[in-house]
Amino acid sequence: RIGMLEVHWDIDSTSSELARRIPVLDDLAFVMAEAQSAGRGRRGRTWLSPPGMNLYLSVLKRFDGGFASLSGLSLAVGVMLLRALADLGIRTPGLKWPNDVLAGNAKLAGVLVELSGEYSGPCAAVIGVGLNIRLPDSLHERAGQPITDLASILGGDPPSRNRIASAVIAALADGLLAFERHGFAAFAEEYAANDLLRGESLRIIDPRGEYDAMGEGVDERGALRVRRANGDRVTVDSAEVSVRRT
Ligand code: ATP
Ligand code: BTN
Repeated sequence: RIGMLEVHWDIDSTSSELARRIPVLDDLAFVMAEAQSAGRGRRGRTWLSPPGMNLYLSVLKRFDGGFASLSGLSLAVGVMLLRALADLGIRTPGLKWPNDVLAGNAKLAGVLVELSGEYSGPCAAVIGVGLNIRLPDSLHERAGQPITDLASILGGDPPSRNRIASAVIAALADGLLAFERHGFAAFAEEYAANDLLRGESLRIIDPRGEYDAMGEGVDERGALRVRRANGDRVTVDSAEVSVRRT
């Protein structure tokens, strides 16, 4: 079912590479790289991507139902990553809405979903996954937030990168087909079981204003539900908003 798997030594960004080739690629085309010179996160932020020890992987998945059918996709991909890690015997990480895999308080992996095509017709998602396997020490200072890797979580040698990559690719290939058929509903229960923000005191950083709130899970589209200090219940969409635990 996998359309293609291409491995590059060094590339600007595996997601950019797929985006450039959307018109000519088959569905479920995967691109991996040893290193990225312009790895990116959400809203133009940098994903530190040194050579040799981490996973930088993107996949192209087409959908018929348009962007509207894809709400919750980045959360579902987080669940897929947890499934892949569980297959490798690693069960400690959890999910921080909307796109992070954390272990303890530190970022282990990130998911970047970028859509192109039609709002209510055929469209394509380029889904990028960065998973830290063994980070050089110097990266911790540069990240601007606590980050971690599988070697630290396991306190010893992680599985080989090939095993990790194949577990992640298998989980994405299966999971994206399930998402295509059933949407976020197929992932909601597992998301809730791994939701690190539920019941937590949060700071919601919205360009229209910041506020404190309590996490109350996610709705059926994967939007974050929170209760503000004044008792108001609000649903937060991911596009413009960042969330911090306080
Ligand atoms: P948001 O909640 O808005 O998504 P975020 O801080 O998680 O906020 P992202 O754009 O999702 O921001 O991710 C990019 C951030 O991830 C960078 O600004 C940096 O702090 C952190 N980061 C960069 N490289 C790595 C890495 N290899 N591993 C873990 N974290 C990294
Ligand atoms: C985030 O937390 O903001 C998401 C980070 C996603 C990083 C991956 S690494 C592979 C792919 N290529 C990129 O440039 N970004 C994603």
